Formats: sequence, structure tokens, C-alpha cells
Amino acid sequence: MRYLIGVDIGTSATKTVLFDETCQVVWSASQEYPLYQPQNGWAEQNPQDWFEAVTKTVRSVINNSAVNAEDIKGIGLSGQMHGLVMLDEKNKVIRPAIIWCDQRTQNECREITDRVGTERLIQITANPALTGFTASKILWIRNHEPENYRACRHILLPKDYVRFCMTDEFATEVSDASGMQLLDVPSRRWSDEVLDKLEINKSLLPKVYESPEVTGTINKKFASLTGLSTKTVVVGGAGDNAAAAIGTGIVKDGLAFTTIGTSGVVFAHTSKPIIDPKGRVHTFCCAVPNCWHVMGVTQAAGLSLKWFRDTLAEIYKAEEEKTGIDSYALISNDVKKIPIGSHRLIYLPYLMGERTPHLDANCRGVFFGLSAIHTRVDMLRAVMEGVGYSLTDCLDVLREMKINVTEMMACGGGAKSPVWRQMLADMYGCEVKTIKAKEGPALGAAILAGVGAGIFPDVVSACSEFIKRETFCSPDSVAQAYYEKGHALYKKLYLQLKDCYKDLARL
Ligand code: XUL
Repeated sequence: MRYLIGVDIGTSATKTVLFDETCQVVWSASQEYPLYQPQNGWAEQNPQDWFEAVTKTVRSVINNSAVNAEDIKGIGLSGQMHGLVMLDEKNKVIRPAIIWCDQRTQNECREITDRVGTERLIQITANPALTGFTASKILWIRNHEPENYRACRHILLPKDYVRFCMTDEFATEVSDASGMQLLDVPSRRWSDEVLDKLEINKSLLPKVYESPEVTGTINKKFASLTGLSTKTVVVGGAGDNAAAAIGTGIVKDGLAFTTIGTSGVVFAHTSKPIIDPKGRVHTFCCAVPNCWHVMGVTQAAGLSLKWFRDTLAEIYKAEEEKTGIDSYALISNDVKKIPIGSHRLIYLPYLMGERTPHLDANCRGVFFGLSAIHTRVDMLRAVMEGVGYSLTDCLDVLREMKINVTEMMACGGGAKSPVWRQMLADMYGCEVKTIKAKEGPALGAAILAGVGAGIFPDVVSACSEFIKRETFCSPDSVAQAYYEKGHALYKKLYLQLKDCYKDLARL
């Protein structure tokens, strides 16, 4: 039997899964690490934490499964997108990584737009200048920490930093590179025009591959740290959402998924690069060679629920410790007992600003309609509904762009909750399905590794062989009618608060 490893370097943890060549899970391990928020709206992580988590979890799946390392033919990496890792001439990390949800770069976004031009930027990078994306983070370092910028010799994304530590290769792949705002997304290579206009030296950037291509093999150091063989290949892999698409079988036109992880995403596969001229959703290269995807992003999806649990509903964690039942499962059970609409309470999930559809770094979270009757569980339901409304905003933009969605899957931690999945079905007005495999990005990365290692002929046929549907929920007409009204009010609230958010940021 041959084996594959998929690694997902997330924001809260790294998850590493060992699969056999029929994509069955043999062993999995995960390791958490901290997120640092030095100021309101800033977000940083330590790249060494990612590398240590990957090392520990790879070692753990090999040791626990007792699989022969020579039989592990390929590794695929996936993970959080957009984060900026800078290395100096000795290949040492210069400063903590500024990650995807950091919002400090509004001035640099204006600078990018001024230098490249609004329309030209969207034509080339398929997106307007965004605080989450890497280019504005690079400019922020140049503007605020010039000594760090001068010391920088290599710019890498989070998973590509780990790749460098595993293989000594400076490499990335098209899906993650799309989120740097330096790639010509329709032609899938670095944009000399954008790099020239931003005065960023191309030699700082890694080589770009397609996702299933082999980018290198395991170096001796990583082999001795983990027990892996130096013959195991490491493929390009994909950004977390593009990898989740492979792991969910979203590899053809008409297929879409919603994921609720730290962020939330509504993602549709497209065989052509379809671009929203208003830039409200992202168009990126996808992990299927020569295809693209369009996706809307809710910045704080699972993060909203985690934030509420950790700051205002700690009893669920205590209960988890006592009973061993997952705190989110306990929350989901309680929320099920609360009626639709959370007793007229609406939550806006803008804890880290918002991307789709507002592209607003200043907006922040709101509970609207709080009354003395409300309980903690009403608030939890409102949080889940607010995230659902925001994801519906994403789907509405895709529908407006005439992107045909015939099948919607749900994945990510949040999709484990039947209540949340039902909310999505009711709000979207369509069936929401799950697949049997729950490994999402890690499975997608392993499938890409299987293609690169020559075990599978190509990505699409591997997905049709191994990805199987499991559950589905249909919209309930009464709930759907309520949520249509709720969503209209939810949208109105942002418009009413738009200016107040600016005032709040200036306070
Ligand atoms: C996508 C995005 C997030 C991160 C973290 O554009 O920013 O999905 O990749 O999960």
C-alpha cells in the first residue's frame, strides 16, 4: 500500500492527516498555536510555531500509524492564505508574520490603487487592493519598518515557508499566489507590470507552480526530525479554500461549497476567470490546472462563535472538560431549542472588518435588538445566524455575476453543526450537502500529492473516485420566508452604520 500526507496549516492549528492510496484516513494529528493581536485590527503569528506544529504532527502520524516511511509517496501542503513571511540573507525569519485577517494596511491599499490604477489592478490581479492581501502588507513593512524591508531577501506565504523548511525550495503555487495581489491571475504568472509599479523586486518572490506539480523532496533535516524519507515528494498544494475544494470534490462548473472555519467562504468553481468589476468577491486560480474559482469571504465566521464561547460562554468549555463532548456540539444542541430569529436579535459578524460585500476594514461587530429577555443562548443563535446572513451576502454576489451554482456542499468545523447547515439551506434557499470525508483541505492537499506522485492520473478523476456525498438538508419554506426579511434588515444595518464605523476608527 502507498500513502499520502495532507497538511493544513490553519490559523488556530495545523492538522496533518495520513491517507492510504484510496484516500482513507490512517492517522491524524493536530497542534494549536497562538494568534497575536498587538493592536485592534492587527493579527500576527510566529512562523516557527507553524513549522514546529507541522514537524510534531507529521512525526506523530508516522509514529502512531507505524507506516513504513518509504511508502509515503507524497506530501501536499495547504493553509491560511495571504500571510507575509520575510526571510533575511541567512534565510532567517525577520519579524512575525502579518496574517490574512490583519487590517492595518488601508493607506497601503490606497497607495497600490494610486500606483496601478483601480481598473488595471482588477484586470490583472482580479481583485481590488485589499488589506487582507499580501502586497499591501509588503508595502506596510516598507513604509513603517524600512530596516526590515531592506533586510528582506525572500517573501513567502505561510505554507510556502514551511515548504522551504521541509525541502530547501523557494516555491509557491497558483492558488495561494493569487492572494498576494502580485499575480496575473488570468495568465497564472507573476505580473511584471504590478511588480514594476509597486517597485517590488521579482527576485524576492518564489517560483510559481500549478498545484499538483512536484516542487521538491524532503530535505535531510526534516527527514531526521520526522522519520520521513528524503524520497517523498512535496507538491505545490493549495491555499486552504482551493484545497478544501479538492477535498470536497468542487472541481467542475456548477459546483460550490460553503466553509465555516475561522473565516467563512462561499466558493464556486469556474473554468474561466470570471471577475466582479466591483471587486466584492475574489477570483483566484484554483488547484485544478487551468481553472479558476470565485469566492466571497466572511472575515469572522467560526471566529465569531469562538470569540463568543471564549469570552462570554466559557461554561461550554468547562462542560467539554467534564463530559468530553465537544463544546461546539453542546452549543449547537442548545441553539437548536431557540426559535428562528433568536427572539429578534441580529448579529453583524464584523469582528475583523469585512470583505464580501463591503470591503470595509473599519466595520466591527454588533448585536442589534438586545433586550432584557435575551439569554446567552439567544446570543449564540444570533451569532450563527449573523454569520449565515454574511455568507448569504457572498452567495448573492455570485448569483448576481450569473455564476451557475447547481450543487452546494458545506465543510469546515462549522458545517459539523446540523443547525448551522440548516440555517444555510434556509437562507440560501437551496439544498446544502455534506460529503463523507471530513478532512477538507488536508484531503485536498493529499489528492494533489497523489497526482504529483503519479498515484492518481489527474485531480478531477481522483475526486470522482474518492469523494462521496453523505447528508443533505433542504430549505424549510417558513424559515426561508423569515430569513429573507431578517437578511433585508441585516443589510440595512450595515448601511446605517457605515459612517459610524469610520467615526469609531477615528475615536
Ligand atoms: C481567503 C482567506 C482565508 C484565509 C484563512 O482569502 O483570507 O480563508 O485563507 O483561512
